[in-house]
Amino acid sequence: MKVPFIDLERQHKPIKKDLMQAFERVLDSNKFILSDEVKKFENEIASYTETKYAIGVSNCTNALLLSLKALGIGTGDEVITTPFTFVATAEVIAILGARPVFCDIDGKTFNIDVKKIKDHISARTRAIIPVHLYGQAADMAEMMDLARAYNLKVVEDMAQAIGAKYKGKMVGNLGDTACISFYVTKNLNALGDAGMILTNDEKLDTKIRAYRVHGAQKKYHHDFLGYNDRLDAMQAAFLSIKLKYLDDWNAKRRQIAKRYDEGLGNVVMTPHISKDNESVYHQYTIRAEKRDELGNFLNSKGIGTAIHYPVPLHLQPAFRYLGYKEGDLPEAEQAAGEVISLPIQQDLTEEEVDYVIECVKQFYKK
Ligand SMILES: Cc1ncc(COP(=O)(O)O)c(C=O)c1O
Repeated sequence: MKVPFIDLERQHKPIKKDLMQAFERVLDSNKFILSDEVKKFENEIASYTETKYAIGVSNCTNALLLSLKALGIGTGDEVITTPFTFVATAEVIAILGARPVFCDIDGKTFNIDVKKIKDHISARTRAIIPVHLYGQAADMAEMMDLARAYNLKVVEDMAQAIGAKYKGKMVGNLGDTACISFYVTKNLNALGDAGMILTNDEKLDTKIRAYRVHGAQKKYHHDFLGYNDRLDAMQAAFLSIKLKYLDDWNAKRRQIAKRYDEGLGNVVMTPHISKDNESVYHQYTIRAEKRDELGNFLNSKGIGTAIHYPVPLHLQPAFRYLGYKEGDLPEAEQAAGEVISLPIQQDLTEEEVDYVIECVKQFYKK
């Protein structure tokens, strides 16, 4: 049997007619950038995430960049974040001339360890970027208390967590802004790159909208220098169709996760979802002995796997200038050597999930 890590054809086949209709509608409209399609989709996302404002941008990397820029973060500032994430989270801090300060993770949830953040706060600290990794929110209540006490801004990196809940509420509401990725493999995925910024702050909304279009609130009138970071009408139209299925898709991911939990709970360390969280399982990532050998074995059985992430950011050559060394952030380093993600796409069949379970068990029986 073959179990792909991700197979977009399965997702698109049942909705192909709707996607083709949307394509034709946008094509015929001849409006391809920031059109009514984008406005409509922004309103749908604001309503879905229960936030006041949603700003469509070209991807989540730039959603993070625009958020930091609008919050005034730049040269000489420090921003605390996790080393166990996709590079974009910390990359944008550095690109703006600020310094990423890495705080170790909680070895159970893989999210930033909120209890350790305080140790990293200095006179230069301006913000925190928590990442809701694998679809589970970081411990936002304690983080927001800390942020308020130290007057820090919070930008939520919810690239992987649209639809997730924290203390019963939609993720994306607690920080100053929250950034979504609609990259092709995300739970809500475009047919290309796309992203969104959420905020409940009207001033930030206005500022970010201007940064998105070269610092202009009125066409060809530039109050400050900005970026070209607009969401395409075509992607908004496709995403709007898919949004209708998101809750159903996320529920299916949860069912698959439950099946894995039951089948593998005694064999490997299955994901730990804290009591405040409802995860959307963007990834189903286990901690396993002999991770690389397990991956090779599963691949030889036709099962796709992935490592999220093999090298923590503080040990990446790109961040060598920050001066971190091995041993500085032990939880993140250990996780990087032990994690492996199993297929979790909503379209997997029970037979496929059971086959993955059986193969993992078979590996540890050898
Ligand atoms: C945690 C995290 N942050 C940021 C990003 C960047 O998103 P995008 O590819 O939309 O720029 C990703 C995407 O993989 C991500 O997983």
